[in-house]
Amino acid sequence: MAAIGIFDSGSGGLSVFREIYRLFPEADYLYWSDNAFCPYGEKSREFITDRARRITSFLLSGGADIITVACNTATAASIGTLREEFPVDFIGMEPAVKPAALHTATGVIGVLATAGTLGGAKYIRTRQTYASGVRVVEHVGEGFVELVENGVLSGPEAEHVVRASLQPLLDAGADVIVLGCTHYPFLMDVIRKIAGPGVTIIDPAPAVARHLADVLASVAPSRHPASSPSATSSSASSGLLEEPHLVMPTPRIRLYSSGSPDSMIRIFDTCVAPYL
Ligand code: DGL
Repeated sequence: MAAIGIFDSGSGGLSVFREIYRLFPEADYLYWSDNAFCPYGEKSREFITDRARRITSFLLSGGADIITVACNTATAASIGTLREEFPVDFIGMEPAVKPAALHTATGVIGVLATAGTLGGAKYIRTRQTYASGVRVVEHVGEGFVELVENGVLSGPEAEHVVRASLQPLLDAGADVIVLGCTHYPFLMDVIRKIAGPGVTIIDPAPAVARHLADVLASVAPSRHPASSPSATSSSASSGLLEEPHLVMPTPRIRLYSSGSPDSMIRIFDTCVAPYL
């Protein structure tokens, strides 16, 4: 079974890990939370690409055979470069405007994501291709990432912050809301409460996990060169700047963080472990 590398700016990618784990409970996992540099949302493409490159090198040198960029913002900034530079398969994330456009009855879909994702060329192209027949209303989930990293997943503060970004989409008539940031599913209860029962919320993580399964099934083991000596030594040479914290909730799951592991452990224990 492959070893699956996953990374995000923080704990958000654990919403994707959770879905992948459901399909592959026997796999080995290496997860990187880049929380020393979180949030990525407003950072430059160059900065995020540099981080993505270093993290990918680290995960490959740790034995990962395939990399899931469990971060819409990092995908938008860096996946083209990663695919050019590393000889492994990458699974990326992108706001799910296609299923939303197919599902809407009002003809209005809402997209919540970071500024980096909404301004990315890939997203703009996808929106033009698949959502040209509907109205797409976008909003940055202001403060959502900070809520999740601080473990504030419910209550008045979470509702206040979520409402400020969600209400404009509801007011515009959106009956489907796309969660275009992997942190946001951890606020799902609050989002559903504010949106009400008539609004469909799309978390793309299950579809991303199925896509990863398809890629793993279609690729011969020899196409995964991560465990070959040359790939290992070239990854090790580019190294990371900082020594990560490592937490191992099970022998097959290695969770690394560039900053304090507290927020990652909190999200893992409350939102992931109950589903394993
Ligand atoms: N979880 C990330 C995403 O999917 C990034 C959030 C951030 O760091 O701003 O976009």
